[in-house]
Amino acid sequence: MKQLLGIRELSADQIVHLLDTAESFRDVSRREIKKVPALRGRTVINLFFEASTRTRTSFEIAAKRLSADAVNISVSTSSVSKGETLLDTARNLQAMAPDCIVIRHSSAGAPYHLSRVCDAAIVNAGDGAHEHPTQALLDALTIREHKHQIAGLKIAIIGDILHSRVARSNIYLLSKLGATVSVAGPGTLVPREFAELIEQGVRVEQRIEDAIVDADVVMILRVQRERQTDAFFPSMREYAVHYGLHPNHLNLAAPDAIVMHPGPMNRGIEISSEIADGGRSLILDQVTNGVAVRMAVLYLLAGAGKDGQEASSDVNVVSATEESSRSLGGVRGRTRKPKRGTRN
Ligand code: CP
Repeated sequence: MKQLLGIRELSADQIVHLLDTAESFRDVSRREIKKVPALRGRTVINLFFEASTRTRTSFEIAAKRLSADAVNISVSTSSVSKGETLLDTARNLQAMAPDCIVIRHSSAGAPYHLSRVCDAAIVNAGDGAHEHPTQALLDALTIREHKHQIAGLKIAIIGDILHSRVARSNIYLLSKLGATVSVAGPGTLVPREFAELIEQGVRVEQRIEDAIVDADVVMILRVQRERQTDAFFPSMREYAVHYGLHPNHLNLAAPDAIVMHPGPMNRGIEISSEIADGGRSLILDQVTNGVAVRMAVLYLLAGAGKDGQEASSDVNVVSATEESSRSLGGVRGRTRKPKRGTRN
C-alpha cells in the first residue's frame, strides 16, 4: 500500500490487515512510556486546511509515538493564504523530502491531486464530502473490539448522509467486511440514489426507527451546517425532534447495541446528552482507537510496511516494540503478539 486515499480502493484483506496492525499498536498507548522507534528518522507532515480536533491531534500523537518527526501546517500558516496553489504548496513540501503527507481539505479529490505530484505517501484525513478513511478504520476497530467481528452485524447510520465523508467511508468498509448497513435521515439529506451508488447495496429507510430496529450498532452523524448551502430542514429544533437520537429509540435496537458518533457532536441536536454520556456510548473509545489506527497507517505507509513489505510488518511491529522496551529502559505492560488477520 503506497497511499491511503479512500476505503473504496481497499480490499477486505487490506482493511483487515490495517485493523490487525492497529490492534498491535493499541498497547503502546496504554504504557507509561508511549513510544516505539518504528519511524525513527522519518518525517510526517500534517497539512490541514479545515478545522480538526481529533484527526489532526491523533495523527500528530501517532507520529510521535512512532518516533517520527511530525510537522503541522494549517491554512493560516501555509502560503495558500497568500495565493499559492495547493499543488505548488505540495511540490514545495515534497522538496523537503517528507516520508508522508497527511492532508485534510474541503475539496473532494485534493489528496488524489497531491498523490500525483508527491513521492511521499499521501493519507486522506478527510476530503470534502468524499471520504474519511481513517475515521472508518477507527470505527471498525471499535466495533470489532466490542462485537468481536463485523460480518453479520446490522449497522444503522443516521443523519446527514448527503454531506458525510464518514458515512461514505463507513458504508464501503462495513459492506466489504460483511455487515448490513441501513441509512436514514431527512429525505433531503439521504439521497434516494444512494443505494445504487454503493455497489455493495445499502438499505435506505424513510424513518430512523426503521433503520434502528434490531441494529447492533447505531452510528449518528453530525449535522454539517458548514457544508449545507440550502435549507435541508426547517430548523435545528425540528431536526432534534424528528431525527435526533433519544433514549426511547434504543429500545428498538438489539439489547446490546452500541452507539457511536465520529465527533464533533451537536449535543441535543443529533444525539441527546443522555445517550452521548450513557453506558452504550463508545464515542471516546473511538477517539482512543484513532491513535492506534493512525499509528498503523503511518507505519504501513512510511515504515517497514511500505514498498510491498506488508507481509513482514506484524513481525516488525513487535520487534520495534521490544526494541523500544530495551532502549527506553523498560516499559510497563506486556508486548502482545499481534494476531494474524483472520477476523473481520
Ligand atoms: N471525526 C473527525 O474527523 O473529527 P475532527 O474534525 O475533530 O478531526
